[in-house]
Amino acid sequence: MKRIIAPSLFALLAALALPAQADSYRLPKNAVFEEECSSCHIAFPPQMLHADSWRAMMGDLSRHFGSDASIDEKHRVAITDFLVANAGGRKTGDTRDAQGKPLLRITETARFAKKHREISAATWKRPSIKSPANCAACHPLAAAGEYSDHSAVSPK
Ligand code: HEC
Ligand code: HEC
Repeated sequence: MKRIIAPSLFALLAALALPAQADSYRLPKNAVFEEECSSCHIAFPPQMLHADSWRAMMGDLSRHFGSDASIDEKHRVAITDFLVANAGGRKTGDTRDAQGKPLLRITETARFAKKHREISAATWKRPSIKSPANCAACHPLAAAGEYSDHSAVSPK
């Protein structure tokens, strides 16, 4: 018995000893999404919200956080399908508010708050940052979906 168990136990311990794997937010390729959803801000990773949030957002693009982001119906449907197909994941966590309504902002999710809990209110307000949604201010490779701790910087 020992001989069979030992190697697998070793493999398990080795796996546990590895640093937590960096979350992958790499953007799945999609030309329509890139064209329509990265002109005003970086293309946010579909993995950071669940499908119901994306559906709610894509259902009302004319009132998109104070902007009119409406697009033609064919593109709207194609982007919704793309976002839903790539939505959420094991680590996305809860993306609903206290009333159970799907959140539209990644920056309002519990996971975002947890990952950024060490950033002070004053830092968020710096002119070089302006908004927590300005991911690229601190994650220089955000447009490519790279958000790992070691690549994050705090701008002055
Ligand atoms: C006309 C400009 C414009 C276009 C086009 C646009 N957005 Fe936005 N979007 C905004 C603005 C403005 C905000 C709010 C930014 C802020 O709070 O700093 C925003 C915020 C967001 C947020 C929330 C960010 C957060 O706080 O977590 C998501 C998600 C988002 N947009 C997705 C999309 C998607 C998907 C598309 C393509 C269908 C899109 N946007 C196209 C202007 C736009
Ligand atoms: C004011 C600077 C700042 C802004 C703006 C910001 N972040 Fe971060 N983010 C950080 C820092 C610093 C860390 C590392 C935190 C730590 O190690 O405790 C981090 C960590 C993260 C992590 C965790 C990475 C990991 O390896 O666990 C994710 C995911 C992330 N940010 C996503 C985003 C997204 C998405 C946006 C925009 C919607 C954003 N961040 C906006 C500074 C920022």
